[in-house]
Amino acid sequence: MGFMHEMRTSGNGLLTRAAIIAAVGGLLFGYDTGVISGAILFIQKDLKANSTEQEWIISVLLLGAMLGAVISGYLADRISRKWTKVVSGTVYVLAALGCAFSVSVPMLIGSRFVLGLAVGTASFVAPLYISEVSPPRVRGGLVSFNQLAVTVGILVSYLVDFAFQGVPGNWRWMLGLAAVPGAVLAIGMLTVPHTPRWLVSHDRGDQARTVLGKLRSNDDDADVDGELKEIQEVDEQESSTRLKDLLSRSVRPMLWIGLALAIFQQLVGVNTVIYYAPTILKGTGLTNSSSITQTVFVGITNVVFTVAAVLLLDRVGRRPLLLIGTAGLTLALALIGVYFLVPAVQHGAPYIALVGLLIYIASFAIGLGPVFWLMISEIFPMGIRSKAMAVSTVANWLANFVVAGTFLTVTHAITRQGTFFIYTGIGVLAFLFFAWKVPETKNRSLEDIQEDLTGQSDGGPGRKGEEQRA
Ligand code: BGC
Repeated sequence: MGFMHEMRTSGNGLLTRAAIIAAVGGLLFGYDTGVISGAILFIQKDLKANSTEQEWIISVLLLGAMLGAVISGYLADRISRKWTKVVSGTVYVLAALGCAFSVSVPMLIGSRFVLGLAVGTASFVAPLYISEVSPPRVRGGLVSFNQLAVTVGILVSYLVDFAFQGVPGNWRWMLGLAAVPGAVLAIGMLTVPHTPRWLVSHDRGDQARTVLGKLRSNDDDADVDGELKEIQEVDEQESSTRLKDLLSRSVRPMLWIGLALAIFQQLVGVNTVIYYAPTILKGTGLTNSSSITQTVFVGITNVVFTVAAVLLLDRVGRRPLLLIGTAGLTLALALIGVYFLVPAVQHGAPYIALVGLLIYIASFAIGLGPVFWLMISEIFPMGIRSKAMAVSTVANWLANFVVAGTFLTVTHAITRQGTFFIYTGIGVLAFLFFAWKVPETKNRSLEDIQEDLTGQSDGGPGRKGEEQRA
């Protein structure tokens, strides 16, 4: 009984629609991660951007995303998950058009920063929203729709870059096209409900019951009143948490897990592969165009294995996929390192670099890629969930910024193989940490996971916070 079967029996139109619309946020996240690699070549000529300016055009988005995650951690509680996503879709449209019509480098940098605000918001409000509308049995698959959308967005961006190369105003189209899914997100979110958990936390229990009823309408096993009661109980314990409650004794262990997943997800070098795959492959002696074609293979493999993750996460669980995926990507990193280290391999078996990259991305896609975003939507208590997810997300963007910004410098300083061996070492550490600390969350209610992780008897972070303030 896999995800598809469960969706047929326990899902319904509204639930699926809500998850898909929310996941458009992921599509935009992926699109803007990937699109700039192709566009920058033309921007450089057209706007006469020097190399520092180019670096800024690329990386300012990551800074914007960090700030976007901070702001929307607050907004998601204040104005709701739903309205935060409407705002982010709207900002997306404006910023994408701002990029497309930029007449100077500073204007483009400014627009990319604003775009980053929307990307950072989308990157965690989407999984947050989906996890709060999903029933436990299919939550893994549904939340990972978002990661699937990220990978589809990356692939689409490669294809758009490819298709628009020869078109006049190419880079403007590449960047401006993102306004379309931005509008779909903003308008689509107006048609889906608030999450029951957010409604309960704003004393709108009656509405929460109606929404839950609609979301579970096709599920014969659903116990709407029971689910609502569970949400209300947890909410009561945690009605007024503050940011500092993140450091309370009961939340700290989860915060470490969230931060470790966030940071390891980036320190194993995934975006080095996404941003620099053509460069890495060119280093193997391939021509420009065949390295771009092979990069598309990397994009396709990423999508295909993320589909596998969506289908498997609720069946085999998060932990096995996380551990197998992390082991696989660590071995692949070692393989790529050996490839660059040993000249005989480079001459005798040049395809090894591509094989290494494909094993790497497949392993990432089945484990750490989706599992990070899924876990941070599951392990934190309700009262502090959006703040804790925001903090984890900021850490993820920060680590992304550090790795992307240092890859070329580190490669020059300690060689390519040295860099990949460092990533390998980080992969080993990540595996050990995950095996030791990360809990299984499959098919458990968010409330139950929380109870287990905090030892509910000494109260949730909210209650603790109250005590501390009293
Ligand atoms: C990561 C991104 C990465 C993408 C690749 C996401 O989970 O957070 O940084 O580019 O996966 O598929």
